[in-house]
Amino acid sequence: MPLTRKAYRAALLHSIGDPAEVGIEASYEYFEDGLLVIENGRISAVGHAADLLPSLPADTEVVHYQDALITPGLIDTHIHLPQTGMVGAYGEQLLDWLNTYTFPCESQFADKAHAEHVADIFIKELLRNGTTTALVFGSVHPQSVDAFFEAAQKLDLRMIAGKVMMDRNAPDYLTDTAQTSYADSKALIERWHGKGRLHYAVTPRFAPTSTPEQLTLAGQLLGEYPDLYLQTHISENTQEVEWVKELFPERSGYLDVYDHYKLLGERSVFAHGVHLCDDECARLAQTGSAVAFCPTSNLFLGSGLFNLPMAEKHKLNVDLGTDVGGGTSFSLLQTLNEAYKVMQLQGVRLSPFKSLYLATLGGARALRLEDRIGTLQPGSDADFLVLDYNATPLLSYRLKQSNTIAETLFVLMTLGDDRVVLQTYAAGRLVHQR
Ligand code: GUN
Ligand code: ZN
Repeated sequence: MPLTRKAYRAALLHSIGDPAEVGIEASYEYFEDGLLVIENGRISAVGHAADLLPSLPADTEVVHYQDALITPGLIDTHIHLPQTGMVGAYGEQLLDWLNTYTFPCESQFADKAHAEHVADIFIKELLRNGTTTALVFGSVHPQSVDAFFEAAQKLDLRMIAGKVMMDRNAPDYLTDTAQTSYADSKALIERWHGKGRLHYAVTPRFAPTSTPEQLTLAGQLLGEYPDLYLQTHISENTQEVEWVKELFPERSGYLDVYDHYKLLGERSVFAHGVHLCDDECARLAQTGSAVAFCPTSNLFLGSGLFNLPMAEKHKLNVDLGTDVGGGTSFSLLQTLNEAYKVMQLQGVRLSPFKSLYLATLGGARALRLEDRIGTLQPGSDADFLVLDYNATPLLSYRLKQSNTIAETLFVLMTLGDDRVVLQTYAAGRLVHQR
């Protein structure tokens, strides 16, 4: 294959460490007039344009952007494909919301054509919002995951997804059995896991909708294939937490249910964790598991305020999720806008560089993909964004008052959304142009 090389010149910003560990100043690199060089879908160089341009082969095409910022593609570690059609459903908290809105909407994915139609809308929406990698819940139907992976494969996206396992406490039209969920998941793993940039996640919905038999088989699957992911929900809502105690009286708490069935580990992502206790955070950290912070969803469903400092104290991997359709936006910028307010309500200041970390390198680390995505480091997949400082009249005016990249970054997260994302690149290919 002939070498393809292209360079992009603009301001460049990426996270290189967790501000909670290395301090804010050492957590990022910023090049005011930077150059990003891409070769065959990978980043081959990043730095100051003045340093890199002289050594660039003379035939290299250089695209020069004014008033723009290049960042890594964003990583959404918790989102539901089959809830695309019910974002912003009125009036309920978690358990009633599931029964009233979610389950009927997800039932439509029994139809493969419907799943394909929504997968197309969903992936376009991710890319419009600058999300290049997502950890995705399908519905209980395997065809929902086939539809998603088929669409992601066409664009060579790095995506992770799984079919929901759910064999009780849900309508009959939407349940599998322990055995069929195992067999269907296994067939999807064989078909998709490790194919190109696609990965599979074993996906028990949450403890209340799985029997002990199903959770046992979920744990068994994790042991059968290398590098599989596990995604589920935990301690989102107080009624849910009480229900888990009733359903699993023999376990010491919600996390202990998942621990007992061998679902914790380095590629396990637990969504929400609003009501986790200290011991649970410690155990999650000890096993290398991660928690997805889902601020728009936690506010919209009235679930509560995530305690980020407690997670940091335990050195627990935290990443960011939109949780659409419990969450109200596909935009991780808007998700960070709400994250900031959630921290304000707890008297904590969320630095824009911590926010950037959560949406990029923090997500990549939680997924054990930091060598591939989440930064602009040479060797990484060329998944990156061009953000437009003049996306709206207000943003344009506001950013002219900014003198620092910290202020500019913060305002992008406060005022920004899909309109800011001028272009999205995946593996070096343009996959969204505003
Ligand atoms: N808990 C179990 N299922 C769901 C879901 O679909 N969304 C959210 N937010 N929480 C859940
Ligand atoms: Zn969710």
